[in-house]
Amino acid sequence: MTVRPGDIDTLAIDRAAGVLRGGGLVAFPTETVYGLGANAADGAAVARIFQAKGRPPSHPLIVHLGGAEQLGDWVEEVPARARLLAERFWPGPLTLVLRRGRRVALEATGGLETVAVRVPAHPVALALLSAFDDGIAAPSANRFGSVSPTTAAHVRAELGDAVDLVLDGGPCHVGVESTIVDATGDIPSVLRPGGVTREDLEAVLGRPLAVPATSPVRVPGQHPSHYAPRARVVLVEPENVVAEAERVQETGRQVGVLLPPAFADAEVKAHAVVALPASMAAYARGLYAFLRELDQRGCDVIIASPPAEQGLGVAIANRLRRAAGPRPSA
Ligand code: TXA
Ligand code: MG
Repeated sequence: MTVRPGDIDTLAIDRAAGVLRGGGLVAFPTETVYGLGANAADGAAVARIFQAKGRPPSHPLIVHLGGAEQLGDWVEEVPARARLLAERFWPGPLTLVLRRGRRVALEATGGLETVAVRVPAHPVALALLSAFDDGIAAPSANRFGSVSPTTAAHVRAELGDAVDLVLDGGPCHVGVESTIVDATGDIPSVLRPGGVTREDLEAVLGRPLAVPATSPVRVPGQHPSHYAPRARVVLVEPENVVAEAERVQETGRQVGVLLPPAFADAEVKAHAVVALPASMAAYARGLYAFLRELDQRGCDVIIASPPAEQGLGVAIANRLRRAAGPRPSA
């Protein structure tokens, strides 16, 4: 059963809330990527998420809430700076790591003393949270280590029957995951760059963020290879993309290219070329779909260049670097 973009299908939402109440798994759209949700207070239901994704149990999940007023049940305390960020950025692509409250299933936090929480800005996600009226633990709805899904079709391709119900809310608007901020200490720090930029966070806080190394929070799930397509990803300087593509293509491999806008007119000798949009927002929105497309077109290698690291470019560059990271079995 699916919810089509446009009008929200309240029957589908009610049915999805029923699946969650029964301990099942519901994939749902958020503004960042699709999530694979379970009742965040039900340890057995949360355990099914890890099974469906093939994700190690030590990698904690994000608890999604309908509004900041629901935080009380899920976290121990909300420091003033965390409240400021929640007020400004929720609903939106910001996840706050706070000391965990009693209500959250231990399975969702991977045994940590903290919990990650966020209020997503997507009408279907908010309708589901409102109908379920409780916290939904959800990682991105992909197999462990692979590219996050930004459409319902991606979710079905990744997880198939492992998910009880998929709510279809159309393509995700932001396209990269939420920014994760450790807000347990005096000075917040970014644990994962994402849809809310460092510049936006610092403007609201009125001061620089702490560097993550000084954060007391252990950062789990930071495997070197993550967000990776099947094809090997090779990163080079933007001016070398075209030459590197040609060089690798000549070795007999099928090369896919993410072509920077500055080189849009270049003739590229490669198997498949995606011309990147000039706007960082459009690049972020399309990034995972571009990587999936190059996989689907049979590329063995993807040549790309990380964008300049400002604004949303930081999150895009982070995902490309992780996609290019060493793989355990490749
Ligand atoms: O945009 C998003 O954040 C999407 C949508 C579905 O909300 N979710 C998402 O979840 O990206 P996931 O599981 O793929 O990534 C969540 C990351 C984990 O890899 C982990 O590093 C971090 O959140 N995390 C969760 N709980 C944490 C905690 N207590 N302390 C530090 N990091 C935590
Ligand atoms: Mg993920």
